[in-house]
Amino acid sequence: MAQKKIAVLVGSLRKESLSRKMAKALIKISPSSLNLEIIEIGGLPLYNQDMEDNPPAAWTGFRERVKNVDGVLFVTPEYNRSVPGVLKNALDVGSRPYGKSAWDGKPGAVVSVSPGAIGGFGANHHLRQSLVFINVPTMQQPEAYIGQAANLFDESGSLVNDSTREFAKTFMLAFASWVETNMVRS
Ligand SMILES: Cc1cc2nc3c(=O)[nH]c(=O)nc-3n(C[C@H](O)[C@H](O)[C@H](O)COP(=O)(O)O)c2cc1C
Repeated sequence: MAQKKIAVLVGSLRKESLSRKMAKALIKISPSSLNLEIIEIGGLPLYNQDMEDNPPAAWTGFRERVKNVDGVLFVTPEYNRSVPGVLKNALDVGSRPYGKSAWDGKPGAVVSVSPGAIGGFGANHHLRQSLVFINVPTMQQPEAYIGQAANLFDESGSLVNDSTREFAKTFMLAFASWVETNMVRS
């Protein structure tokens, strides 16, 4: 069976980002049916509809890359109980021009990550609100609110505790099945 291509979007630009560490841990632990790759979003100019007449290459390249995948995995911190601007900008860029959204029908999943106790619940659900509108069928279960994330990784970025590793494995297996069931077939 051909591998499913998955874009991984990380909602933090920070060098030591816990979300990026979690994204890499998920990639490492994912089943062989998935081929996951982080698509960088930090270089996307802020969305401005006036620029659609002559869109920047960073926008068009990003849209093409998203169009070419079978699914999307979002791994994000929470900023002020919501989605970091850099990730919202990527959603907006990918969603236009009107009627040509790159996201349309791509199965997705959301992992929120926080050093705090609530695990980025607010970001997770605000992101889901946008995903409903841009028609990304988003996995409901298992939910992933990764709290106390500063204690989860060793210096090489590997997950240090068995329960989180097991959860990550279960989550990625469920996502693989979600993509298989919901992906757009041409
Ligand atoms: C502007 C800003 C707002 C934040 N708001 C929240 C928040 O609402 N909830 C939360 O759990 N952490 C919040 N934090 C703390 C982040 O969770 C923390 O900095 C985290 O490490 C960022 O994710 P990263 O490690 O992937 O960069 C905020 C941080 C910043 C910079």
